[in-house]
Amino acid sequence: EKLTLTVIKADVGGFVGHSSVHPKLLQKAEAHLKENGRDLLIDFHVTHVGDDINLILTHREGPDNSEIHGLAWDAFKAATEAAKELKLYGAGQDLLKDAFSGNIKGLGPGVAEMEFAERPSEPVIIFMADKTEPGAWNYPLYKMFADPFNTIGLVIDPKMHDGFKFEVHDLIDNKKITFSTPEELYDLLVLIGAPGRYCIKNVFSKTTGEIAAASSTQRLNLMAGKYIGKDDPVCIVRCQSGLPAVGEALEPFANPHLVSGWMRGSHSGPLMPVSLKDATPARFDGPPRVVALGFQLSNGKLVGPQDFFADVSFDSARKKANDVADYLRHLGPFEPHRLHLDEMEYTTLPLVMKKLKNRFEDIE
Ligand code: 13P
Ligand code: 13P
Ligand code: MG
Ligand code: MG
Ligand code: MG
Repeated sequence: EKLTLTVIKADVGGFVGHSSVHPKLLQKAEAHLKENGRDLLIDFHVTHVGDDINLILTHREGPDNSEIHGLAWDAFKAATEAAKELKLYGAGQDLLKDAFSGNIKGLGPGVAEMEFAERPSEPVIIFMADKTEPGAWNYPLYKMFADPFNTIGLVIDPKMHDGFKFEVHDLIDNKKITFSTPEELYDLLVLIGAPGRYCIKNVFSKTTGEIAAASSTQRLNLMAGKYIGKDDPVCIVRCQSGLPAVGEALEPFANPHLVSGWMRGSHSGPLMPVSLKDATPARFDGPPRVVALGFQLSNGKLVGPQDFFADVSFDSARKKANDVADYLRHLGPFEPHRLHLDEMEYTTLPLVMKKLKNRFEDIE
């Protein structure tokens, strides 16, 4: 019988500002899942990265299940009540609709889900980021599943040597396209090098056809029609035995890449790998953070977590991210620290631009 691993996240109020989640909200969400998920879930784990609550759920209901999505929605609603009581910042921020309508997609929370037959040993990593957007996973997923300089398994493991398939979503035109690597590496890069629009949704093994990775891809601001923070994405990666080793999946984060987000969702900054304890973006509301929690699945039970980026081997990545942050901050409101105008369309900048519009005169 197949297992479904579902990760659903939402920001329903920051403590303080946009830096973290108040413990009371986590208690509310956890209590809700415990009470109401008894017959539905095999196991669950509630955590947070920055101001985003992450619900990690295992069950046998399959992806896009209305009961599972409804359960998560109601858990966020319960947490929102606490956020309102405490007058937390942006209470209910990512819940765009008042009522649940069968599937949580399009309602604001981010979802990454995958269904598979649990292997004799099933190590998985849940990557969770704050102060950035789903395209932030493009670079690390490419490194994990297509770059032999990152993943030696692509070279020496016969079960990986044929490569992987990448399903890429166009978040503006709502279309998808699948590439087979290594043959179509260059075509893949044409799109995923533009992570504000094209996002890797799923990765599949060419050897087994099995799902290897799944991310949460949506554009919150496109759905909301106004600026309401970033999408702060999550991503699930299965590891070992024909898939990247745990260390190969973590390796791309050793060299912090630049992602969109940070202050007011309007800046480019380094994605800093941190432990759960350090997932409290503060400087200029950042820099953007990523946490990696490892679990061994055992008949659907979540054995863990292992807080991978707490390891000292990521100290120099953090140092580098801080150095890059120092450098970029000197640019202040100038591009490329500030995002280019296309991306600023989805922030509060156009409201200010409107005021200047009537002051333009023709140049002779
Ligand atoms: P072990 O010999 O420690 O199991 O390591 C195997 C492996 O996959 C390392 O990446
Ligand atoms: P969040 O998407 O994490 O709420 O960030 C919003 C923001 O504006 C940070 O400065
Ligand atoms: Mg927030
Ligand atoms: Mg956030
Ligand atoms: Mg957000």
